[in-house]
Amino acid sequence: MAELSVSNSSQHTEYNYTVVRQFALAAVLWGVVGMAVGCWIAAQLAWPQLGQGVEWLSYGRLRPLHTNAVIFAFGGCALFATSYYVVQRTCNVRLISDKLAAFHFWGWQLVIVAAAISLPMGYTQGKEYAELEWPIDVLITFTWLAYAAVFFGTLAIRKVKHIYVANWFYGAFIIAVALLHVVNSAAIPAGWMKSYSVYAGVQDAMVQWWYGHNAVGFFLTAGFLGMMYYYIPKQVGRPVYSYRLSIVHFWALIFTYMWAGPHHLHYTALPDWTQSIGMVFSLILLAPSWGGMINGIMTLSGAWHKLRDDPILRFLIVSLSFYGMSTFEGPMMSIKTVNALSHYTDWTIGHVHSGALGWVGFITMGSLYYMVPRLFGQIHMHSKQAIEVHFWVSTIGIVLYIAAMWIAGVMQGLMWRDLNPDGTLTYSFVESVKATYPYYVVRFLGGVLYVTGMLVMAWNVWMTIRAGRAVNAKIPPLSSLAHAVPAH
Ligand code: HEM
Ligand code: HEM
Repeated sequence: MAELSVSNSSQHTEYNYTVVRQFALAAVLWGVVGMAVGCWIAAQLAWPQLGQGVEWLSYGRLRPLHTNAVIFAFGGCALFATSYYVVQRTCNVRLISDKLAAFHFWGWQLVIVAAAISLPMGYTQGKEYAELEWPIDVLITFTWLAYAAVFFGTLAIRKVKHIYVANWFYGAFIIAVALLHVVNSAAIPAGWMKSYSVYAGVQDAMVQWWYGHNAVGFFLTAGFLGMMYYYIPKQVGRPVYSYRLSIVHFWALIFTYMWAGPHHLHYTALPDWTQSIGMVFSLILLAPSWGGMINGIMTLSGAWHKLRDDPILRFLIVSLSFYGMSTFEGPMMSIKTVNALSHYTDWTIGHVHSGALGWVGFITMGSLYYMVPRLFGQIHMHSKQAIEVHFWVSTIGIVLYIAAMWIAGVMQGLMWRDLNPDGTLTYSFVESVKATYPYYVVRFLGGVLYVTGMLVMAWNVWMTIRAGRAVNAKIPPLSSLAHAVPAH
């Protein structure tokens, strides 16, 4: 296997940072684009006349573009950049194949561009987070296989016996997403951009939400926990609080997530006992989720003062508070009686974005701020003050976004179920839409603040690159690595 990896001798001694740099910069770019589209659709919910008459600017077509762009383009590129960085540094070895890694990068960018063209044109399989038509699905499969080959191949040629826990999380993310994608996207083509799912009716719904929930569990959680386990100890300069807890919560998390999907299908045609299983596993999920959060936050013990003047650490730690919040809220929403109120309302959207903006967004930003200077031969980002500004602007943005959606959601749920003494509905649906209007405006403002933070980040990254140059770190000689510390 080793001869696959290197073509000249200098490459024996250096890490492959090229692909890390590419994915890191792509994450910033797609983050700005995906969140700008989020702001556009948020504006349309407040002012529905926006873009009227132009079908490719319509809400129905751009909503899946937003979700695909932020999850798979922004989140995906960040996960690839960090996993390639972490696997090399914790294994003391260069990626097994530069060519496959380059194929992974360009293949994924092609997927993103294909999504950006086909979704606004109206091509969709109609499955949430799996909208892309079958030719793009095939490209995703090959690109993913290349990713898996590079990641696990690099683990196989590692120079350090122990596999550091961050790699376990990245590895689970890679295997689970491959499985989910292949099973959920199985379809019969009926033309170049049209296909029919091989599943029908309630089975289709069950498979879709097994996929959907594990997209949350593995794409939006497990991979980002991999980030947490590397970048928090590195930024704090301390080992993980409990290595034992990291292993226990790893196995508990990946086992439990797989069963929780039916909480998306409460009160549907799905058999009742299946819904109850989904609910019970969702409640159990609170424990491993909080195990991870506590492990991350407690890594700071004895070094809390660093939060005061290190904005990068603040991004990383505040992301964990949002992780804890959304993984408390999620199990509560999975209780059937609570879901009877929250389902179909903006409460769900508030929950989604406390996880997405707070957890996924902030852990990514902290990790990128840690990594970017190192990829360009610099000690620090160009401006620490700009990181501070980014942190506060985005935090205010998140609070506006999620508070508005929580209030709107609970209000909608209560209005819809309110009955007059004679049993008729107290409010018509349109009255609840009207009452939601101010909250949609506040959410839009929150989104604009959040994307403004991203633009500040893009500027800071650009200035850091201009001051430095692309460098590939030397692979240090093997030292005795303590298990609980990511040494490099
Ligand atoms: C500037 C930031 C953002 C804004 C303004 C924004 C706005 C929106 C809006 C308006 C919707 C549609 C809500 C609805 O149908 O009622 C939405 C959905 C969604 N967004 Fe965002 N978003 C932002 C960032 C993000 C990020 C960073 C992620 C993920 C990492 C994300 C993930 C999602 C998901 C998964 C949905 C679908 C939720 C569901 O179907 O329940 N968003 N977003
Ligand atoms: C213990 C962990 C969690 C549990 C048990 C959980 C549970 C739930 C429940 C019950 C819903 C509402 C389903 C409905 O009524 O339709 C939901 C929706 C959602 N959650 Fe979570 N959640 C958890 C963590 C998270 C995290 C950390 C994120 C993001 C990073 C997230 C993202 C989402 C998304 C995107 C949806 C909307 C799916 C859709 O309808 O399109 N969840 N979750």
